[in-house]
Amino acid sequence: MLNKKTAASATTALAIAKRNLKIATEALKQANKLNQVKTAIISTVAHELRTPLSAIVGFTELISLKTTDEEIRDYANTASRGANKLSMIIDNMLDLSKIDEGRFERKIELVELKTFIENVVALFTQVAHEKKIDLLADVSQSISIKCNEAGLTRIAFNLVNNAIKFTTSGSVTFRCKKGNANTVVLEVEDTGIGIPSEDIPKLFDRFSDVDHQRHPQGKGAGLGLSLVKELLTIMGGKISVDSELNRGTRVSIELPVIPPRFLSSELH
Ligand SMILES: Nc1ncnc2c1ncn2[C@@H]1O[C@H](COP(=O)(O)OP(=O)(O)O)[C@@H](O)[C@H]1O
Ligand SMILES: [Mg+2]
Repeated sequence: MLNKKTAASATTALAIAKRNLKIATEALKQANKLNQVKTAIISTVAHELRTPLSAIVGFTELISLKTTDEEIRDYANTASRGANKLSMIIDNMLDLSKIDEGRFERKIELVELKTFIENVVALFTQVAHEKKIDLLADVSQSISIKCNEAGLTRIAFNLVNNAIKFTTSGSVTFRCKKGNANTVVLEVEDTGIGIPSEDIPKLFDRFSDVDHQRHPQGKGAGLGLSLVKELLTIMGGKISVDSELNRGTRVSIELPVIPPRFLSSELH
């Protein structure tokens, strides 16, 4: 009797579980479809915006250089900063669509990380200065790796940009050190608002849906860190995030000194 009852309730539970699984699978299918549509829109929009935006970036910089009028230079600089921010978003979108379509160029180059980090820091110095944040490069020794420099640049831009964006006082440090025998570790550490631990696993989802109530910048496109993760997959690297609310965040990436599918013919 008891066995019959147990069997009956097990059958009911199984039926419910099956139904829930069907609902969940359907929801996942819909979500994937929606993401595919979003990705297709991104690719089209990014291509359409790139050319006119390049003209805006170029000409605002030219106006700023050529004018002798301080007021005009201020306007041109403000426009130039806005255009550069937009450029970064669009470049992220273009790289994501290149990865999706298998068009991301996987050229391997020798990159000296001290110079690389100092160059990235130099590019963001003005933005950090305007926010009264110290932006520091911390590389004590020369370390070279073979990697895709365009990919590494996109990763560095996104991490440093996030660190400055989500820090209101203190500092952002971009450092590099030796990992294990075959790897190097690049870290971007800030003294910013931090990330709640429950949001950390969601950061790398495309269109990541983290809680943006806590910062005044509001919701971004949520594409930067998902692109970083996808680039690292291509480059044979790993990423980890350590963060404490209102204390700061440290994002570490570990890269092989020589990439996994390295072909000597690819080295330029
Ligand atoms: N250094 C950081 N400090 C605090 N929050 C961060 C940091 N980096 C990323 N985040 C959080 O992760 C979210 C996703 O980042 P990202 O993928 O670059 O997208 P976006 O910059 O477009 O919002 C950010 O909106 C922010 O909430
Ligand atoms: Mg970002």
